[in-house]
Amino acid sequence: MKTVLITGGAGFIGSNYVRYALQEHADWRAVVYDKLTYAGNLDNLKDVAQHFGQRYAFVRGDIADSKAVTAVLREYRPGTIINFAADTHVDRSLMEPGSFIMTDVYGTYVLLEAAREFKVERYHQVSTDEVYGQVLEGRSTEEDKLHTRSPYSASKAGGDLMCLAYHTSFNVPVTITRGSNNIGPYQYPEKAVPLFVTNAIDGIPLPLYGDGLQQRDYQYVLDHCEGIDAVVQKGQPGEVYNVGSGAETSNIDMAHAILDLLGKPYSLIQPITDRPGHDRRYALDTSKVRSLGWSSRHAFAQAIEKTVRWYVDNEWWWRKLKTGEYLEYYKRQYAGRELV
Ligand code: NAD
Ligand code: TYD
Repeated sequence: MKTVLITGGAGFIGSNYVRYALQEHADWRAVVYDKLTYAGNLDNLKDVAQHFGQRYAFVRGDIADSKAVTAVLREYRPGTIINFAADTHVDRSLMEPGSFIMTDVYGTYVLLEAAREFKVERYHQVSTDEVYGQVLEGRSTEEDKLHTRSPYSASKAGGDLMCLAYHTSFNVPVTITRGSNNIGPYQYPEKAVPLFVTNAIDGIPLPLYGDGLQQRDYQYVLDHCEGIDAVVQKGQPGEVYNVGSGAETSNIDMAHAILDLLGKPYSLIQPITDRPGHDRRYALDTSKVRSLGWSSRHAFAQAIEKTVRWYVDNEWWWRKLKTGEYLEYYKRQYAGRELV
């Protein structure tokens, strides 16, 4: 058995990856280490615990807590660490940057120290295309300079640079993937796509920032998981790999696609005051990860259709999340921003 520590494995992409990896690798045991912040949710792993009980363990803990991280490594001795744990929402990073620095930068440092001390065979960092900053023309390659513009992207870039430094300085076998926007099952409904889908189901306005012409590469989460897995298996230590569909969609087109799939009127779209420092466009050159044999399998139309269907079929999962802290956040974030 090969033991893999998956930090942040109770979040959106992490839980999809745990499910995928346990199906794909019959000789893997996955140990999920997660703080269970508002975005972490054991419901995301309910079926995994049922189907893979023998090869799955969960430990609640903070990646920034070095004692707890050391204890989990001592107990389980993973050969591989894959780090999904992060504060991830740009709008929250504009409200509370401090916690992003603690988790995304300091927490990464704590994990790297543990990887070094326990001599793991691979440390993989899950990062984002947002570290390149907005790309008005062309596509970002892995060699491009980082031009971060939000506290979220700056924190993620800090984590990436620390990973590369631990490879150069201490020979820790690090790989990094920089993924584009993911969509699919189990995404916390603060992010644009699940927010718009669940609001549209309930006939509530879809808050669209600014002119809605910002472009994102919305990739299906399983494509991203396969890309991460390809890099964990075949990537070279010290290297960075972009993972995305390679196609862009504007936010207004994304909103229209959701409303079309649900048979709801476009009049539900509510233009609101733009996000400060809103990155206009991200776009990735993915030739490096494709050279490992990976390719994206879902075009936007398929990805959004599967995504909408999942939220329609899984109200049990999201309806209870849109209460309590979520409603307070929603009010703080959206109240009084309507443009018309
Ligand atoms: P998410 O917000 O859904 O989940 C994050 C998970 O990390 C949660 O389970 C949370 O409880 C956990 N966590 C947060 N702080 C922690 C801490 N200090 N210690 C331990 N666990 C902690 O995020 P996601 O969308 O699944 O993103 C996962 C990773 O992928 C992140 O590193 C993110 O930067 C990156 N990424 C996300 C996207 C995207 O579109 N969502 C795109 C590219 C890259
Ligand atoms: P988001 O899901 O927050 O991802 P990111 O900002 O990390 O790309 O947002 C995706 C796009 O949707 C982004 O251009 C911002 C926009 N957006 C809205 O128009 N309204 C919203 O309420 C949110 C959350 C995002």
